[in-house]
Amino acid sequence: MKALVYQGPGKKSLEERPIPKLAAPTDAIVKMTRTTICGTDLHILKGDVPTCEPGRILGHEGVGVVQQVGTAVSSFKSGDRVLISCISSCGKCDYCRRGMYSHCSTGGWILGNKIDGTQAEYVRIPHAETSLYPIPAGADEEALVMLSDILPTGFECGVLNGKVQPGSTVAIVGAGPIGLAALLTAQFYAPAQIIMIDLDPNRLEVAGGFGATACIDSGHDDPVAAVMKLTEQKGVDCAIEAVGVPATFELCEALVAPGGVIANVGVHGVKADLHLEQLWDRNIAITTRLVDTVSTPMLLKTVRAGRIDPARLITHRFQLEDVAGAYDTFSRAADTHALKVIIEVS
Ligand SMILES: NC(=O)c1ccc[n+]([C@@H]2O[C@H](COP(=O)([O-])OP(=O)(O)OC[C@H]3O[C@@H](n4cnc5c(N)ncnc54)[C@H](O)[C@@H]3O)[C@@H](O)[C@H]2O)c1
Ligand SMILES: [Zn+2]
Ligand SMILES: [Zn+2]
Repeated sequence: MKALVYQGPGKKSLEERPIPKLAAPTDAIVKMTRTTICGTDLHILKGDVPTCEPGRILGHEGVGVVQQVGTAVSSFKSGDRVLISCISSCGKCDYCRRGMYSHCSTGGWILGNKIDGTQAEYVRIPHAETSLYPIPAGADEEALVMLSDILPTGFECGVLNGKVQPGSTVAIVGAGPIGLAALLTAQFYAPAQIIMIDLDPNRLEVAGGFGATACIDSGHDDPVAAVMKLTEQKGVDCAIEAVGVPATFELCEALVAPGGVIANVGVHGVKADLHLEQLWDRNIAITTRLVDTVSTPMLLKTVRAGRIDPARLITHRFQLEDVAGAYDTFSRAADTHALKVIIEVS
């Protein structure tokens, strides 16, 4: 089969690999139909993720058709169309029993990281019973690719952790796919304001169309002054960090109102300053989270009911043969206006 293989920092190649085999009774082999690229794949290619070693097939998102299941898998059978969660979970360990699938003792974020991933013709899914979701008949499978990672991430790490409530004020720093997923799912709760902050005018324009009440180009305008003006000098009840650099985390510290929450979503490679000299008396909370994907069944229902339309995040389509083109387009988003690129596997 064809597979996109990480070859060490800055290097990747489309290679011929053997089709994966069942390795445990709880496994399934899934024939991929569609996958995509995550900002985190770019982090891996930068060499930021040491757990991902050269030789690894990348990718932790996608949909496909079950090819084969192990003897302990009873909920899925060959031929079933499935959504693959970016988080593998056994459902039984202490963390899984607490709904913290991201820290599953034999799973978590392993796909395309510690085990071979989804940017290939076939993938082995461990703990298949609790890591795959059936795709309802008639569903838009392309749109469901957005449910493997980005929608649950924006919702769980941003909106739920940020305690977005009716009437609250929200600032989302970073209008990439994750920030936009937080923007879409924050609207479940009818906040009074959702202010998007980014350096990319195209992404801010997209955010305007996705329901942002204000967009701030922090390359041109002072985002702190602009947010204070929009919030009667109070700041926001919820500041969502969806970039992953020190400047944007520190910006959230400057934006949060008394009693508010800073919900960090971004993957950080270096330390960021915590300004306790300014925050100690402000009754705030700071949260971090690796997406658990506990909200995936709920999000599936909202997509099915037309409450949110994640297909709007898809900007480009490629075939697996041209996965290099897909990476090139995705990694030059400012020029290409890419959000999510679909890779079709036929
Ligand atoms: N916590 C989790 O479980 C989890 C899961 C998936 C992704 N992530 C992380 O979430 C973050 C966002 O992911 P994404 O795919 O949307 O990334 P992305 O790179 O596509 O988007 C980031 C956005 O931030 C903007 N930006 C960069 N520097 C900025 C600055 N100084 N001020 C304002 N805006 C700035 C960029 O223009 C871009 O639009 C990444 O760090 C990713 O690794 C976390
Ligand atoms: Zn991801
Ligand atoms: Zn577990």
